Amino acid sequence: MDRVRTIDWRDDHIVAIDQTKLPGELVEMAILTVEDLVDAIKRLAIRGAPALGAAGALGAALAARQAPEHRDRELADLRKSRPTAVNLAWGVDRAAARLGEGPDAVLDEARKVLEEDAVRNRRLGERGADWLAAEVTDHLTVQTHCNAGALACVEWGTALGVVRALHERGRLGHVYVDETRPLLQGSRLTSWELTELGIDHTLVVDAAAATVLARGLANAVVVGADRITANGDVVNKIGTFPLALAAARANVPFVVAAPESTVDPTIPAGHQVEIEVRDGAEVLAIGGLPGTPTLNYAFDVTPADLVTAIVTEDRIVRPALGERPA
Ligand code: MRU
Repeated sequence: MDRVRTIDWRDDHIVAIDQTKLPGELVEMAILTVEDLVDAIKRLAIRGAPALGAAGALGAALAARQAPEHRDRELADLRKSRPTAVNLAWGVDRAAARLGEGPDAVLDEARKVLEEDAVRNRRLGERGADWLAAEVTDHLTVQTHCNAGALACVEWGTALGVVRALHERGRLGHVYVDETRPLLQGSRLTSWELTELGIDHTLVVDAAAATVLARGLANAVVVGADRITANGDVVNKIGTFPLALAAARANVPFVVAAPESTVDPTIPAGHQVEIEVRDGAEVLAIGGLPGTPTLNYAFDVTPADLVTAIVTEDRIVRPALGERPA
């Protein structure tokens, strides 16, 4: 689905696919202010770590046109609109570093972030496919969680970028997609992307994820990441940690596909990362009893010793063997 970019700059504003409308409608929204961008990020109309990095950089370009007192508040609001994915603050800071050169320089830097995302993801996909074919088998059946496809990036995808590279090579057998409660990124977004790409897949409820592995249906797990800490712990969508536990039990490699911008060398270990806790209404939306207390963690931490490999556009790191990404 690279007919359109997930997020881009047009004339004097941001355009992005409204991911809350998928899979029913493919609708583009125009974002003219940082306030609207923050709102789109908070309600997950724009989501996925690399796409958030691009949004942060483009948001800095919008903010750069404001008077300094507004600009600084807007940049701060944007940076903290979602706390867990490191890419958001990384994108804001990278583009905002050129504020001293004027608004055009900030936009120029943001455009570079977008161009690089597309190129780096393709490299990452090829590297991941090479590694899986060499280390696992040349006929892969992949299980994935959440959405780490083109919709989570500017183009192409990370975990789904690996899947796409395998598909192009004729090395992909099948994909098992976890539904990903409560916001259903697996069933709404990953399933939609794979359908558009003509890639055979089967949707399972999250509670079936371990059973898919225990029954030998998938021979590799490939997921994305929101933040990878210096020791190789991986913060990703809630449900990733139990998937890694199940993969270890079934002796199936657990592979994390993420760009270098997701590696955060400033945080030593996963327990130090702020985990977003979202509104309980998301949990209660399907059949919940109104008023029931909830604990809606949006992400979890997979310890490094469960991570067989981290694939970035530049390297392979094997945390389970004691290798550290930073
Ligand atoms: O809450 P979301 O939908 O933004 O969470 C997204 C994920 O957890 C993805 O797996 C991660 O950002 C990697 S996307 C390439």
